[in-house]
Amino acid sequence: AGPCDIYSAGGTPCVAAHGTTRALYSSYSGALYQVKRASDGATTDIAPLSAGGVANAAAQDKFCASTTCVISVIYDQSGHGNHLTQAPPGAFKGPDVNGFDNLASAIGAPVTLNGQKAYGVFISPGTGYRNNNAKNTAVRDEPEGMYAVLDGTHYNGGCCFDYGNAETSSTDTGNGHMEAIYFGDNTGWGSGAGSGPWVMADLENGLFSGRNVKQNTGDPSINYRFLSSIVKGEPNQWAIRGGNAASGSLSTFYSGPRPNASGYNPMSKEGAIILGIGGDNSVSGQGTFYEGVMTSGYPSDATENAVQANIVAARYAVAPLSTGPALSVGSSISLRATTPSYTDRYIAHTGSTVNTQVVSSSSSTSLKQQATWKVRTGLANSECYSFESVDSPGSFIRHYNFALLLNANDGTKIFGEDATFCTQPGLNGQGDTLRSWSYPTRSFRHFNNVLYVASNGGVQDFDATASFNNDVSWVVGAGFA
Ligand code: AHR
Ligand code: AHR
Repeated sequence: AGPCDIYSAGGTPCVAAHGTTRALYSSYSGALYQVKRASDGATTDIAPLSAGGVANAAAQDKFCASTTCVISVIYDQSGHGNHLTQAPPGAFKGPDVNGFDNLASAIGAPVTLNGQKAYGVFISPGTGYRNNNAKNTAVRDEPEGMYAVLDGTHYNGGCCFDYGNAETSSTDTGNGHMEAIYFGDNTGWGSGAGSGPWVMADLENGLFSGRNVKQNTGDPSINYRFLSSIVKGEPNQWAIRGGNAASGSLSTFYSGPRPNASGYNPMSKEGAIILGIGGDNSVSGQGTFYEGVMTSGYPSDATENAVQANIVAARYAVAPLSTGPALSVGSSISLRATTPSYTDRYIAHTGSTVNTQVVSSSSSTSLKQQATWKVRTGLANSECYSFESVDSPGSFIRHYNFALLLNANDGTKIFGEDATFCTQPGLNGQGDTLRSWSYPTRSFRHFNNVLYVASNGGVQDFDATASFNNDVSWVVGAGFA
């Protein structure tokens, strides 16, 4: 059985079922998601390997070979047609064309399920999916449940990495107009015990951890690599539950009356579906989504416990984030451009600007040092890398407003994330492409001899598609100094 078979048996069927990693019904063999590639704009659907099975990641890899892909549709497996697509602008605009949010990289969140490779949905700030015309989801005070499997180590304090029920207008229409799972360490509204991150409920104009509007210490900090998260609500009753998606059972972090603030009892749910954003299209949150559903009716704890057992049996495990020619931690390297006419240029820095410069064995000692980098374990993720300057120890290449800068490591979480890059085989067949861990649609790219993290066809000038594959491919060599 799949999670939605279990919900059906419990009398609370799925009305939306989203999973890029696997089928959520034992009989489902249709499309799980659609990917779109940058080289020609073509799309293809990715289905499970067999009915009820794991996604055919190899089909994606083949379709996306030598280019970049984004996840363009996350299909609803429930038969209600509640697919998720690129979120439109709301009270807040997204960063893409016409105020739409960005689409997620198709390769930002690799995992295995029972040993088979699959990809989750890596939400960077600015990324979001939505369906403002969802059918059969709960409205007003109707009962519903939802779960999502997330990466408990990928979060931030921005508003709001959510999955669930939201406004059909993409604007804030008042308290109680949302009921969604939130995950992160935002403390602007409610919070739980410790310093977070927490599973909370986004009920609009508030992230709730329990009955009280502010802190409820019954809601623990929780950061399992694979995290099961649950929010459910019915008239004057709601609950938060969670646990380790890779083993064990669920705990109940709150179950009781609606929050003691006006507007949340009764609820005014509208039934749209969001992923990665707030109800008003706030786009500052980050997180990773693997699978999740919304139900009709308030699921019993027993039903959810059986769903948790099903998730554990799917055996989520980490898959390598770096797949390119290996870098050796501790070594000193140079990174040479491969774009024709630029192949005598190497990644270097001039003050805090990261650029390319012509470097050779006869260059000055200072230029050689400026063009030599120490490979370090990724500051934010040990499966990836960071690049420390040889002439400025303690300073690393990081992105800021998508330009690459050389800055001193200030030890903050955001610095580490901005300074962490994963390898993949160079898109033009040479060397490595160095992909941002935190914005996996973006990679090291030289543009007018200055370095950026660029996406393939994004809105900035440095995202230009022309010469993209060459500009993001770097040959790793010995350091100059
Ligand atoms: O409730 C928290 C956030 O507040 C909602 O997601 C958003 O719509 C509003 O900004
Ligand atoms: O480079 C994109 C973002 O810009 C970085 O993550 C952040 O540090 C800055 O706001």
